Amino acid sequence: MRYATHFFALLISHLIMLPAQADSTPDLLKELTNAHGPSGFEGPVRKIMEREMGALADSVEIDGLGSVVGVIKVSDKAPNIMIAAHMDEVGMMVKRITDEGYVKYQVLGGILPAALINQRFRILTSKGYVIGISGMKSIHAIPQGERDLKPEHNDIFLDVGASSRKDAQERLGIQPGDPIAPDTEFEVLNGGNRYVGKAWDDRLGLAVMIEVMKRLQNKRPPSNVYFAATTQEEIGLRGARTSSYLVKPDIGISLEAGVAADYPGISQDEAQEALGKGPGLFLFDASMIPNNNLKKMVTALAQKENIPLQFNLQPGYGEDGAEMQKAFSGTPAVNLTVPVRYLHTHYGIIDRRDIDALVNLLSAIVYELTPARVEAIKQFRD
Ligand code: CO
Repeated sequence: MRYATHFFALLISHLIMLPAQADSTPDLLKELTNAHGPSGFEGPVRKIMEREMGALADSVEIDGLGSVVGVIKVSDKAPNIMIAAHMDEVGMMVKRITDEGYVKYQVLGGILPAALINQRFRILTSKGYVIGISGMKSIHAIPQGERDLKPEHNDIFLDVGASSRKDAQERLGIQPGDPIAPDTEFEVLNGGNRYVGKAWDDRLGLAVMIEVMKRLQNKRPPSNVYFAATTQEEIGLRGARTSSYLVKPDIGISLEAGVAADYPGISQDEAQEALGKGPGLFLFDASMIPNNNLKKMVTALAQKENIPLQFNLQPGYGEDGAEMQKAFSGTPAVNLTVPVRYLHTHYGIIDRRDIDALVNLLSAIVYELTPARVEAIKQFRD
């Protein structure tokens, strides 16, 4: 009887507490990935980051290339930890409109032409968003034996439903220079742990950043922590360069989309990450190799905290860590990732558990980076 009464009281208290536990991460990921923001046109994403950082940082600054930098600052004497994720996504820009009203484009970032065929896009014009569909030749018009298409960007065009250049310009407001991004809606894939969306690269990094800022509200970190939402990564790590000069980092941590290799047709020699197996730590990419002591610290912390960690080596990949690493006289840096399938296409897939694991790992890293620890890493002391 006593047991039953206790059980009842426990049940009531749980019922009262439940609504406070609502999971806001899917909504944040949805808002961030749905936002339109090819390189150089990060405005809609910047708005989200200014709002979120405004509520969580001690102060927020915007640098001359449009990066948003929020800081949780403990002291002028403490070292600066810089955590960077980029706001831009791969996309295109209107190059010209043909006489017939079709839109030809300049690509922004690394996208395979094949990934852009027969897809849906949004063009941001002076009159708002316009939908464009990339057309492709009908099979009926291609002779047998010539159907193994290998498109190039200059062969691809967007059909915006205009009847002429004049119609596209005057009715729809399309002009050369207007930014184009995939028109993809975030969704939870069949109710499981997997999420589908465009622009995981690198909106997932921004989401991880925001979740870690929330954790830091409960307990102040031992060093100053700068969160930089950077611009123009996909066209040459440009925003990370200028924001590094704003922050003057002692340690650089890049948050990125990793490259998953867990689907048919891709090998472990091409990429090494898999969905659901935890965050990735890059050992090599075209832009940098991580600092050895920082790498050791992250690996040991993951082990201590029971967080699974994967490694990746990608010769065809660059990231913001490289600019933090090369700023001033050099900064120990590392690149941490959430694995993504089908990176740089209209539909990427991630595993929610990898996001949560990276939030846990990054929080542990931030608390581990005391001024003494930062100094030891900077002096290359093991
Ligand atoms: Co990226």
